[in-house]
Amino acid sequence: MKNISLTGIKPTGAPHLGNYLGSIKPALELAKNSNIDAYYFIADYHSLTSVHSGTQLSSDIYDVAATWLACGLDPDKVAIYKQSDIPEILELNWILSCFCAKGLMNRAHAYKAKVSENNNDGRDLDHGINIGLYCYPVLMAADILILNSDVVPVGADQLQHVEIARDLANAFNHHYGEIIKLPTAQERGDKLVVGLDGRKMSKSYNNTIPLLVSEKKLRKMIMKIVTDSLPPEAPKDPKNSAIMDLYRMFASASEIKSLENQYRKGIGWGVAKQELFEVINREVSPFRQKYNFLMDNKNEIDRVLEEGARKARALASKNLLLIKEKIGVK
Ligand code: TRP
Repeated sequence: MKNISLTGIKPTGAPHLGNYLGSIKPALELAKNSNIDAYYFIADYHSLTSVHSGTQLSSDIYDVAATWLACGLDPDKVAIYKQSDIPEILELNWILSCFCAKGLMNRAHAYKAKVSENNNDGRDLDHGINIGLYCYPVLMAADILILNSDVVPVGADQLQHVEIARDLANAFNHHYGEIIKLPTAQERGDKLVVGLDGRKMSKSYNNTIPLLVSEKKLRKMIMKIVTDSLPPEAPKDPKNSAIMDLYRMFASASEIKSLENQYRKGIGWGVAKQELFEVINREVSPFRQKYNFLMDNKNEIDRVLEEGARKARALASKNLLLIKEKIGVK
């Protein structure tokens, strides 16, 4: 049997260039490996811990599904589904909760960060924390363990969650034998993608460049990258430029060399930004077309997600049945 890899995507608004370079592109590379059965799912119930508008969540789900499909995720080769379409995940979520020490959740980074934020602001420590957020890692463990996943490619911020999934699998197996497979995290070497202000590109810094907006909007956003006030003819340091950093992620080796030379000779920031726009636009414009098509034909997205759910459910229900037998409810 092939190894199973599982990638979870939390829908949180329109994906930006940082998401594309940091997670979408590496995950799509992985999908090319034919020795792996790859599953991709939209973690919509995880978003529910913070998104409490139905219209918002629904539009985020379509947005993220359309983006991944547009960027090349091939539903004929991998399964792509919505978490909420697999009720077995929630059954396992409950079962795992009963093997999860409360203290384990107290130590989870995301929860601890919230508590310390409340502490710093002099609020009640539980302020703004719902049980869904507190138990977020259990649901994530259920996502992973329901498929008996072998590898889980994640960014550094999610490593602890995969570790918790292993802990819960171990806790279960301790009572019932080697039933649930222990997953291995595969850390994506996170590249630092800089945003408009030179800091890490992140929604929370409000410095993102959106991925699949119109050409006009993309150019407009790129023109907003903050630069110094050196005149066009002044030589510039290609090693110390947000424009150049982004350019390197989209351009060929010879293009990079040539722009670096122009920097050293002196280049106007407007010209450098236009060069950056060209290479980004070259890479994303085929995605943009497909994205727009899918967003205009959401039934196409629904069809793909339903098909993916069928495939994932077949495996999930088989695995869950064994677990239910072991715990004595079947
Ligand atoms: N928590 C992950 C994130 O915020 C998303 C996620 C949910 C996930 N379930 C998962 C990732 C299972 C990998 C496996 O990015």
